[in-house]
This record gives sequence, C-alpha cells and structure tokens, in this order.
Amino acid sequence: MIHCFSATGNSRYVADMLGDDIAASATDVVWVFPIHAWGVPKPVLHDIAMTDTMPGDVRHWMVATCGDDIGYADMQWRAAIEARGWIAAGAWSVLMPDTYICLPGFTVDSQHEREGKLAALPGRMQSIRRAILDRRHVVDVCRGAFPSFKSGALRHFFIKHLMSPTRFKVGEGCTGCRTCANVCPQSNIDFDGCNRPVYGNDCVMCLACLHACPHTAIEWGWFTKGKQRYKPITKI
Ligand SMILES: Cc1cc2nc3c(=O)[nH]c(=O)nc-3n(C[C@H](O)[C@H](O)[C@H](O)COP(=O)(O)O)c2cc1C
Repeated sequence: MIHCFSATGNSRYVADMLGDDIAASATDVVWVFPIHAWGVPKPVLHDIAMTDTMPGDVRHWMVATCGDDIGYADMQWRAAIEARGWIAAGAWSVLMPDTYICLPGFTVDSQHEREGKLAALPGRMQSIRRAILDRRHVVDVCRGAFPSFKSGALRHFFIKHLMSPTRFKVGEGCTGCRTCANVCPQSNIDFDGCNRPVYGNDCVMCLACLHACPHTAIEWGWFTKGKQRYKPITKI
C-alpha cells in the first residue's frame, strides 16, 4: 500500500513511480511525503497515528521528497511508526525540485537544477523499488549539514514564526476561480460573500494554493512577491 501526502505534486509523482505491485502490496506500507522544515508534515503524523492497526508482519517504509536535505526527519517518522508498535523498515530521501519560496534567498530551482534532479530520478526510484521488493532495511537519506540543529531549534523556530497561514494575502488579481481551494490537501480554503478565499485553521503551509493560483494572486507576506511559482512535473 502507498500512503501519499503531496502539496505540489512531487511526492505524488514519486509515489506513482514506485509501481503497481508495491501499491497493491498488503505487507508493505510506503509513506510518501514532502519534507517540511526538516520534519514530517503534520497530516502525515496524524495519519500514522489514526490509521487502523495492521498485522505484525507489515513493514513500513519512508520515501520523502525534498529540495535539499531532511535533517533527522526520518527519525521523527521512525518514532511515529514505532509508537504504533509497527516495524519501520527502510527510509529514503529523494531530491526533487524545491517548492519553498517564503524567505529571502529562497526561490524555485533554476531550469538547470530542476533538470539535473529529474535526470537522477529514474535511477534513484529503481533502487528504492528494488530494496522494498527485496525487503532490505536500508536507510539512505541526505541529512545535510547540522541535522540536529535543523530538525531541532531551527524547525521549532520555523513552525512558530515562519509556517503561519496568517501571512497569506490574496491580491486584486483573484478572480474567485477556486483553484486554490481545489488543490488544498487540507480542504482548508472557503470563500466569503465576495467570492474571495478565506483560510481556515487547518493550514499546514504546504504552499499548494500559492503555487497553483493561475493569476499569481496569492502571496505569503512580502517574501514571495515577484518570485516565480512552482510548475508541477508533468513528464520527465
Ligand atoms: C513549507 C515547506 C518547507 C520545506 N522544507 C524543506 C526542508 O526542510 N528541506 C528540503 O530539502 N526541502 C524542503 N521543502 C521542499 C519540499 O520538501 C520539496 O520541494 C518537495 O518535493 C515538495 O513535495 P510536494 O510537491 O509533494 O509537496 C519545503 C517545502 C515547503 C513548502
């Protein structure tokens, strides 16, 4: 079984590359999701906690997509899986085009960077597939520099100050087309009487709405102004 959370499509794309046999497996559960602030996104932790109990021989695998590095996110995932009494078998990170643009200096990848990451993808996915099918307990993740700091103090700071939906602003370009609401994986966007988007309390700052808006009408504070939006991968 594949359990996928994806905001801008990268993790969905990677999940599809795992193949029908893994998707149909009753004895392997692959958790595919993006890394958010060197950790596991809240909806994934929620789903791990709330999913029905599974038989003891089921193994759990993590395939996390990221723009650069994941810190100790795999340990966070492992702890959540083991807290259910399940077997956390293998964990991989998969380098994908970056979607985080909410701070100065952070932009979507250049065409060259994007192409480089996508060129490496088929080989990477092939070896992950093989390891899952062979049931090898592999941990092959890119932690980056200072992983404890990133997944600890820095993540804490991000969540407290830089992951707040209150900074989303909808500009004059909004036509009320509802694309933002349609792509929101949390179903967290409603519309007021003037057909303007209103964010609820369930935002996880995945940026699906901001990137998908066809009119570039959604900004996060002033940090995203004038920046190119993320274009989902359609084919390699
Ligand atoms: C709020 C947010 C935080 C992110 N944090 C990280 C991070 O800590 N490390 C990293 O390498 N990429 C980070 N990224 C980039 C995404 O993990 C990456 O682009 C991922 O492939 C997006 O997957 P999706 O399209 O399935 O949502 C972040 C993206 C967002 C929106």
